[in-house]
Amino acid sequence: MKYRLFTLALALLGAAANAADSEAGRHKAGACLGCHGIPTYANVYPSYHVPKLAGQHAAYIVAALKGYQSGERGHPTMQAQTHRLSEGDMADIAAFFSSLPSDTAGKRQSPRAALPQEQQQKLQVCVSCHGEDGNSPLPENPRIAGQYRDYLHRALLDYKEGRRKNAVMLGMIGLLDDRDMEVFAAWFSSHKGLGVVNIGDADDR
Ligand code: HEC
Ligand code: HEC
Repeated sequence: MKYRLFTLALALLGAAANAADSEAGRHKAGACLGCHGIPTYANVYPSYHVPKLAGQHAAYIVAALKGYQSGERGHPTMQAQTHRLSEGDMADIAAFFSSLPSDTAGKRQSPRAALPQEQQQKLQVCVSCHGEDGNSPLPENPRIAGQYRDYLHRALLDYKEGRRKNAVMLGMIGLLDDRDMEVFAAWFSSHKGLGVVNIGDADDR
């Protein structure tokens, strides 16, 4: 019994040591906000918005950062940004972005019935992981609701053309043709979901 309590205490201590700290993340995310904190900011070639991160699942943010660091995701700027981040840095930064408010104002929630029949059927597959409206309930699946349309479209093209090598999405992308990718990017983007990081959330003290 004593031994069990001892291991439990050790486990709790370990958990505390690993716990992500969003306050520390706020400090560490300063350099990130130069791009992710400016609502209209765009990647230059090709041109699409820098993705929204406010309210994104922390587990997915960490996975995305590891994806750039390992080369699974091939974007040179983000690869450079993640080059020196430790696991702890990633967890703290992810906790910070994830704690920021979603955008619940203004956007309409488009009904599934508004989609053409063909896409309604394919959408059935997507919502099993990304949630009915793109606000994925499971933290390993990114929230895509409210994300910029052009970024979502770009992400799908990146899977299609092999610049993003995530095994789960590579299994899905074969289902989609050009028209589907456009329709789904627009549909998920039109929902209430992710927010833009306000530069005021940054730590400039
Ligand atoms: C110079 C501009 C720039 C800076 C600085 C920058 N990013 Fe990015 N970030 C981008 C762009 C552009 C993308 C989209 C890349 C792609 O298409 O894969 C991106 C993508 C991401 C993604 C993936 C989002 C998703 O939905 O998959 C995460 C997470 C992220 N950045 C976090 C960070 C963090 C953390 C930092 C700071 C350490 C940072 N970024 C700094 C431009 C930037
Ligand atoms: C089995 C679960 C699953 C299914 C089904 C699925 N996805 Fe995904 N999706 C994921 C995961 C996990 C990721 C993150 C992959 C990565 O790290 O690149 C993702 C990433 C994405 C992204 C990129 C998000 C970003 O922020 O960069 C888009 C867009 C997307 N999915 C759209 C779709 C669409 C459209 C469908 C339906 C055809 C679909 N997904 C089906 C699990 C799934």
